[in-house]
Amino acid sequence: MTENPFAAGCAWIEDEYVPISEARIPILDTGFIRSDVTYDVVGTWEGGFFRLDDHMDRFERSWQKLHMNPPVSKTEMVDILTECVRKSGIKNAYVEMIVTRGLAPKGSRDPRLFSNRFYAFAVPYMWICHPENHDEGLHMVIVEDTIRIPSNAVDPTVKNFHWGDLIRSLFEAYERGAQNAILLDAEGNVTEGPGFNIFALVEGELYTPQHGALEGITRRTALDLAEMAGIKTHITTFKTELLFKASELFLTTTAGGIIPITKLNDHVYGNGRMGPTTRQLYDHYWAEHKAGQWVTKIAY
Ligand SMILES: Cc1ncc(COP(=O)(O)O)c(C=O)c1O
Repeated sequence: MTENPFAAGCAWIEDEYVPISEARIPILDTGFIRSDVTYDVVGTWEGGFFRLDDHMDRFERSWQKLHMNPPVSKTEMVDILTECVRKSGIKNAYVEMIVTRGLAPKGSRDPRLFSNRFYAFAVPYMWICHPENHDEGLHMVIVEDTIRIPSNAVDPTVKNFHWGDLIRSLFEAYERGAQNAILLDAEGNVTEGPGFNIFALVEGELYTPQHGALEGITRRTALDLAEMAGIKTHITTFKTELLFKASELFLTTTAGGIIPITKLNDHVYGNGRMGPTTRQLYDHYWAEHKAGQWVTKIAY
């Protein structure tokens, strides 16, 4: 039997499916040279997309806010994403969709005149923290040298490639002996971290920042699961005190789900392991991936 050339991943570039190692974008695409781009990432688990419609709806809101007009419809995008996964044969996949402003028409820098482009790819699922480390969770710091880029400069609800602040925060975290970072805004409010939203459990109720953060689909899922479990939830202005008053902290992301933060600066939460409420949401989160209202099965 010949090996599947898409086994390591499959991309959709310029109207063609290509093996991931061969996928190339034109160097003049302003998605690359200007970060003039929006994207989304949806996961598949055991051969089914998780909350595909919610990811597609957020993606659509994002390109609309950037005044973009993708060359394919939302339905065609779903077909392309499905085909990328199907061709690769990957059951647990990380599936990214991208709309860029595209290439400049000759002699113009007017962003209204560009032909926007659509790209997509599916690769094996990526973990922000490997599953064998989920119980011990992540050690983080609140970074001091970098603030989250202001929301009135780059809208954080539009998933974007302006990762300069997020990457810089990681270097400070590593220097301080931590594994990851939480960023504040200019007013000292907690926002998010490099690729994840933040939750605090305070006196049995869940809090997550309202401002300066992506409206994560995993955040939405954690809120939904908490409400199902009868836990009160709050999307609020979020000061650092809440982080230190909390009995449990966790992050949420498509790249790994619900993951405990067991140490923040010098403060250790509980016994330094995943706390009971985080565990309850974590178990329910993965149970929902196997079947249920949010799963769209793929016919391989
Ligand atoms: C900056 C940022 N915040 C939050 C998230 C979490 O969003 P989601 O749960 O939709 O993956 C991401 C996802 O990559 C992100 O890039």
